[in-house]
Amino acid sequence: MSDHESFYHRDRSWHPPAFTPQYKTSILRSPQYPLLSLDNTISEMTGPVFGHDRLGPLDNDLIRNFAKTGDPIGQRIIVYGRVLDENARPVPGALLEFWQANAGGRYRHKKETYLAALDPNFGGCGRTITDEEGRYWFRTIKPGAYPWPNGINDWRPAHIHFSIFGHAFAQRLITQMYFEGDPMIWQCPIVSTIPDRQAVEQLIAALDRENTLPMDALAYKFDIVLRGRRSTMFENRMEGN
Ligand SMILES: [Fe+2]
Repeated sequence: MSDHESFYHRDRSWHPPAFTPQYKTSILRSPQYPLLSLDNTISEMTGPVFGHDRLGPLDNDLIRNFAKTGDPIGQRIIVYGRVLDENARPVPGALLEFWQANAGGRYRHKKETYLAALDPNFGGCGRTITDEEGRYWFRTIKPGAYPWPNGINDWRPAHIHFSIFGHAFAQRLITQMYFEGDPMIWQCPIVSTIPDRQAVEQLIAALDRENTLPMDALAYKFDIVLRGRRSTMFENRMEGN
């Protein structure tokens, strides 16, 4: 068998252990009993599926998709990259959804309690589908850091949440993207649950001057690898394969 055809076993040390007390909610969320393995049902494997016609023209433009009176406040950025399998082959037709706080670090969510102001022109959600080469891109504003009730004074680094859907409802992966050069990454109790520094670095989008739009937007490149030795760390696949 060539290296190209190899099956890579999941490296469980790549993912954080379920119980990581510095991330307080993991204490109650982590399993108390041995895990059971359940097969997917037929309905989980076959549906529901999404169609390309469901996407609107502004779905990948967070600068415009909620704008009421003008553009949102903040640093204009482009986020782009590719979704790849374990052998660096592109994954076309994957639905990517992303959500984030605004430039002040505030989410548009009814349970959000942070005192930073809402931006009337920013919703913070978008989606797109990878093309034949596995490529995606979207336009947004750079999210701010925000405090959260964990320790006495814990802050999340600026980040964008990502969900990736495959071709069946059960094929969903979730992760977070961070920004190159942000010192807050290395102080975050959630990031610090990831045991391998290289796994953290794969979650950090690189500032890409080549694809910056002059006088308009900075560009950040974030490739997502679905599994194998170079897999992105996914929050919801701590123990599965
Ligand atoms: Fe968040």
